[in-house]
Amino acid sequence: MLYTLLHGLALLYTITSSAVFAQVAFPNSPYVPPRALDGAQPTNGRSHPNPQWSNLLGNLLYFYEAQRSGNLPPSNRVPWRNSSTTSDGQDVGLDLSGGYFDAGDYIKATFPLSAALMSICWGATDYGQGYDVTNQTAYLDDMLRWGLDWLMKAHSSENTLYVLVGNADLDDAYWGGDQNIPSFRPSYQINITHPGTDAAAGASAAFSACSILYSNKSFGGPFSSPASLQNSSYAEKLLTHAQQLYSFAVNATGGQQTYQSAVPAIAASYGSSSYTDELTLAALLLSWATNSTSLFQQAESYYHTFQLAGQNGVFNWDSKTPGLAVLFAQITRASSDIGGNLTVWQSEAERYFDNIVNMRGPAWMTKNGLLYYDGDSDFASLNPALNAAMLLTRYAQIASTPERKAAYLKFAQSQVDYALGNNPMHVPYIVGSHPNSPSNPHSAMASGGNDIANIDTSPPQEAHVLYGAVIGGPDKHDNYYDIRSDWPETEVALDYNAPVLTLAAMHAFNDSNDPFYTSLEVGAYDKVRPQGRPCDPVFPDACGQLSKGGKIAVGVAVGVVGLIVFGLVAWYIYLLWSVKSQKTTR
Ligand SMILES: *[C@@H]1O[C@H](CO)[C@@H](O)[C@H](O)[C@H]1NC(C)=O
Ligand SMILES: *[C@@H]1O[C@H](CO)[C@@H](O)[C@H](O)[C@H]1NC(C)=O
Ligand SMILES: *[C@@H]1O[C@H](CO)[C@@H](O)[C@H](O)[C@H]1NC(C)=O
Ligand SMILES: *[C@@H]1O[C@H](CO)[C@@H](O)[C@H](O)[C@H]1NC(C)=O
Ligand SMILES: *[C@@H]1O[C@H](CO)[C@@H](O)[C@H](O)[C@H]1NC(C)=O
Ligand SMILES: *[C@@H]1O[C@H](CO)[C@@H](O)[C@H](O)[C@H]1NC(C)=O
Ligand SMILES: *[C@@H]1O[C@H](CO)[C@@H](O)[C@H](O)[C@H]1NC(C)=O
Ligand SMILES: *[C@@H]1O[C@H](CO)[C@@H](O)[C@H](O)[C@H]1NC(C)=O
Ligand SMILES: *[C@@H]1O[C@H](CO)[C@@H](O)[C@H](O)[C@H]1NC(C)=O
Repeated sequence: MLYTLLHGLALLYTITSSAVFAQVAFPNSPYVPPRALDGAQPTNGRSHPNPQWSNLLGNLLYFYEAQRSGNLPPSNRVPWRNSSTTSDGQDVGLDLSGGYFDAGDYIKATFPLSAALMSICWGATDYGQGYDVTNQTAYLDDMLRWGLDWLMKAHSSENTLYVLVGNADLDDAYWGGDQNIPSFRPSYQINITHPGTDAAAGASAAFSACSILYSNKSFGGPFSSPASLQNSSYAEKLLTHAQQLYSFAVNATGGQQTYQSAVPAIAASYGSSSYTDELTLAALLLSWATNSTSLFQQAESYYHTFQLAGQNGVFNWDSKTPGLAVLFAQITRASSDIGGNLTVWQSEAERYFDNIVNMRGPAWMTKNGLLYYDGDSDFASLNPALNAAMLLTRYAQIASTPERKAAYLKFAQSQVDYALGNNPMHVPYIVGSHPNSPSNPHSAMASGGNDIANIDTSPPQEAHVLYGAVIGGPDKHDNYYDIRSDWPETEVALDYNAPVLTLAAMHAFNDSNDPFYTSLEVGAYDKVRPQGRPCDPVFPDACGQLSKGGKIAVGVAVGVVGLIVFGLVAWYIYLLWSVKSQKTTR
């Protein structure tokens, strides 16, 4: 009875609020992540879209729903999340509630958020049909709007952008659920006298990339059409913010500088290495969003002035340079009148990619095949590799030779396979996708603990499954020990999921092969770190040998009896689970 009443109220609220937040309609039965055990079922390419890639795409989006800050809407699918931090911005007389918690803690950080939104919108423009065929477009729309609507609030006037809510130092001192988050959450801004060229340009780039997506502007074949969430008034709104932020980045009276110069509080967590890549990217995306030859030429001029050619660094939330040549090539190819030279951009992109696939450094390959950049990879090894895979997969479509196309796709696939379980630990590094997936992501919210001195053991088992979260990743020796406090390896973050969404959308759209983990046997995974010092990135060589039980059961020959016992146990767990899930969905 009470339930029915609540349900009726929720429905009423949905109807009234949907008038305000009109967007793509959710499917009649909401997508919820399946049991991890489902990820162990091969489908052998029987259907298109492949159900496992569909689930992975759905889970990757679901992760963002778990990271929501602010008042949660009735459509919230994550049962263990509560509304929180609803007074954000009050210290500066603004409503800065909403948006996303950045990672395993509770700060809201604009610069990496912008990078993630830019990356996801760019990917959903190229591989939009992947979202459509899996019925995930409504969730993509919802996910993007939750971020973009907040980013619009954070851009509170033409030349003001809030870049941080909460304080990393204070926030790191809190480990607990979403109901007791310390209420002292200062809001930090950049403005015309204290600018942050990278943060302003990065947010501009996100708005442009998403405006392009919402206006259904395609890069043409062989890319798919954009995800079907076209909305021209929303696209227009995003574009206005993109233009204002670009002007702010270019013309601030305080000059051009990295944003931690204005807001030192961000330096420790998300300080930026330079603003030249963001400024170039902002000009380039705005040129495509507005079909402007002069902005395109401005972007080319930045690229040369800032000497961005010839670099071999990582692509990530901080460094966008490797993506520029790819995007220049895509735009030049798609628009004969914008004024670019495709040959020039192809050769720059291919110089960079050839360097990676032929292992000419500075990135190198771990023993078991993970692309590794010393420095960046020490703090989240999967992210640089998966970003490279994302760029390679996209660029391969327009490579100048069939040999390059094949080499790029093959390399990209090797990185995706590694992340999805083709590694010596036999772990698919996405929470909840397979029984061997990490079960101790560094997430204060999901852990259920509130004893900061005993993060690993209190509680012994993570309280909530943070479905779809891509974690930091193994160390440079391919070792991974699923330890909650080991944040370089187990933390989750908005930007870690971004490239994987694009890759999953591509696979869902383009092929019916299973993701690698369906071929992994389910096995108990010993999470015990070997004796000795922790695998801290500052002391990478302190990492010991694989613990005896550190290898999971895949490598172990399982006898027939074992298989039968296992099957019975799995069946029993399934029964328990289905009874439980029927209870909770009623
Ligand atoms: C487009 O987005 C705007 C702004 O969010 C919304 O008011 C409008 O209803 C949307 N239109 C459609 C057709 O969904
Ligand atoms: C998408 O939704 C349609 C219509 O409800 C359904 O027939 C189809 O099976 C769904 N596809 C997936 C991959 O969920
Ligand atoms: C949300 O609230 C419920 C009920 O108070 C609580 O059990 C749960 O742990 C909360 N979720 C988080 C992430 O703290
Ligand atoms: C501009 O930003 C700086 C750095 O965040 C801040 O100290 C200053 O108060 C801001 N100026 C205004 C007028 O708000
Ligand atoms: C978006 O563009 C594609 C072509 O790229 C077209 O097939 C599709 O109908 C367009 N969608 C809308 C809503 O206009
Ligand atoms: C910067 O200011 C100059 C001089 O007012 C103006 O001509 C130019 O359009 C501005 N640039 C941007 C990107 O707004
Ligand atoms: C872009 O602008 C050029 C020249 O300004 C024009 O010829 C072309 O039709 C425009 N393209 C689009 C897609 O608007
Ligand atoms: C494009 O650049 C290449 C290499 O620099 C050059 O040979 C070619 O003439 C250029 N094409 C055009 C149309 O300018
Ligand atoms: C789809 O996969 C095939 C075979 O791997 C590849 O040749 C093609 O380029 C891919 N297409 C897209 C759009 O990714």
